[in-house]
Amino acid sequence: MNTFDSKEFRRVLGAFTTGVTIMTTVDEDGNQYGVTANSFSSVSLDPPLILWSQARTSSSYAAFKNCERFVVNILADHQIPISNQFARSGGNKFHGVMVNEGLGGVPIIEDCSAYLECVKVAVHPGGDHDIYIGQVERMYRSENRPLAFGEGRYVVPVAHEMLAAA
Ligand SMILES: Cc1cc2nc3c(=O)[nH]c(=O)nc-3n(C[C@H](O)[C@H](O)[C@H](O)COP(=O)(O)O)c2cc1C
Repeated sequence: MNTFDSKEFRRVLGAFTTGVTIMTTVDEDGNQYGVTANSFSSVSLDPPLILWSQARTSSSYAAFKNCERFVVNILADHQIPISNQFARSGGNKFHGVMVNEGLGGVPIIEDCSAYLECVKVAVHPGGDHDIYIGQVERMYRSENRPLAFGEGRYVVPVAHEMLAAA
């Protein structure tokens, strides 16, 4: 009998607050793909490497598995609707979303807090997910404050000294 409590596992993972990203890519026919992901993490400074993991059940799994490049769009605190739009399967996820073309034609979502344009350099199996390692080729940071996600909901990070002063 499997006694591992998956719901509790999710709740425990939720104690680790993260940023929110949308991973984007494009296929050979120019079709665009995007997935909301908070599994993003830095890996190495030299060379500059990052990772994220994707569920194998994702309908855009094949697109990311086969892609050469992807972009990590780090969402700003006003982009909750866009986060939700890219967390839903099916339909045109890019409907009403302003994008620019990055390296290799990969879409970059406008008005994010920051973004990283990556070449996919490795894929590792990770249980029911695959782990993608990307090498950063180009990046950008704006003044827009980042969105965060913790305990299963969106949160806005506030500097600790601001709270103490309030
Ligand atoms: C805050 C948040 C973080 C998420 N993080 C991930 C993730 O790291 N990896 C993943 O595969 N799915 C993650 N998801 C779920 C995917 O966004 C969702 O399953 C996917 O976009 C559904 O569309 P698809 O079928 O095109 O993949 C997350 C969802 C939310 C709301």
